[in-house]
Amino acid sequence: MPNGKKITISVIKADVGGFVGHSSFHPALLDMAKEKLGNAKDKGIVADFHVIRCGDDLELIMSHDKGCDNKAIHELAWNIFTACTEAAKELKLYGAGQDLLKDAFTGTVKGMGPGVAEMEFVERKSEPVIIFMADKTSSGAWNLPLYKIFGDPFNTAGLVIDPSMADGFCFNVLDVKEDKSIMLSCPEETYCLLALIGATSRYMVTSVYRKKDKEITAVASTERLGFIAGKYVGKDDPVMIVRCQSGLPAVGEVLEAFSFPYLVRGWMRGSHNGPLMPVPFYEANPTRFDGPPRVIAAGFQIANGRLIGPHDMFDDPSFDETRKKANHVAEYMRRHGPFEPHRLPLEDMEYTTLPHVLGKLKHRFEKH
Ligand code: F6R
Ligand code: MG
Ligand code: MG
Repeated sequence: MPNGKKITISVIKADVGGFVGHSSFHPALLDMAKEKLGNAKDKGIVADFHVIRCGDDLELIMSHDKGCDNKAIHELAWNIFTACTEAAKELKLYGAGQDLLKDAFTGTVKGMGPGVAEMEFVERKSEPVIIFMADKTSSGAWNLPLYKIFGDPFNTAGLVIDPSMADGFCFNVLDVKEDKSIMLSCPEETYCLLALIGATSRYMVTSVYRKKDKEITAVASTERLGFIAGKYVGKDDPVMIVRCQSGLPAVGEVLEAFSFPYLVRGWMRGSHNGPLMPVPFYEANPTRFDGPPRVIAAGFQIANGRLIGPHDMFDDPSFDETRKKANHVAEYMRRHGPFEPHRLPLEDMEYTTLPHVLGKLKHRFEKH
């Protein structure tokens, strides 16, 4: 892939079966996905790839020259997920194929269950990219860090110090209920942006662009499994791609947004608020009360389409205090048991099994 040509980074993920329960992922399935992507690389379908997992989610990171939403790339991911599901069924792994909500591939994995984040850009002289992957949480979980990275000068010094960022960034926000999106420009529309994206279950930042040249800088997955399936089938466990440095937020500014273990929806039965804990790859095994929710960060340098990495970005003692605080917050939230605000509000419980429980009591209510 010579310089000046566009490359595409596609991150496509799915829960194809958990080991043990929903806590982690079986190595045999990772090997299977690696082998299949290796074959695809030999055939020239992808330029490069990396396979990783976060909790019980299989994450396929691919570089290629085919653009976003490409049928061959999506079909490749779908076929890997279905093959891994078969292997998961043989091992009787938990919830085998849980995110594959449709039977037959129809041209895109969007709307079929897997989560997708893709971006196409011209590779710069040096191209540092961080891929964030979360487990036990929902789409919309990236709203807060995306605002901090691209909108908050208390997080990102470059917004104040680097003239190439001074114009600010544009945020594309999706209303998942109405299926409409709006582009908001910061800093001048900061308050409007926050009015929307503070409501993380409905408004989601899908992408961020540098205002002065419309350069794409971040893309987030926004698939809502509950909306697709019409019931609770597991958490969305979103992914996100962020480009860094040279007129974009620095690697350290991007990671700084995760130094506060903010509350996200997810955790046990997808029904609880809990802190998002940034962890190294080997600690992305949420066990306590099926959590607390985790995020990992895989750093790459892109070199002519090759994915040089990953470097495990949260494998750093400077995040120890964040993890400690996350554990304190987890303990504090857990003491609420089945009470809000640990348990999600009723509207968010619509897609869980709770309405069945409440349905049984319906006929026993009398006029007050
Ligand atoms: C979290 C998640 C789990 C399950 C829980 C119950 O995303 O999926 O917390 O909801 O382990 O699972 P079942 O009902 O399959 O026993
Ligand atoms: Mg699972
Ligand atoms: Mg998961």
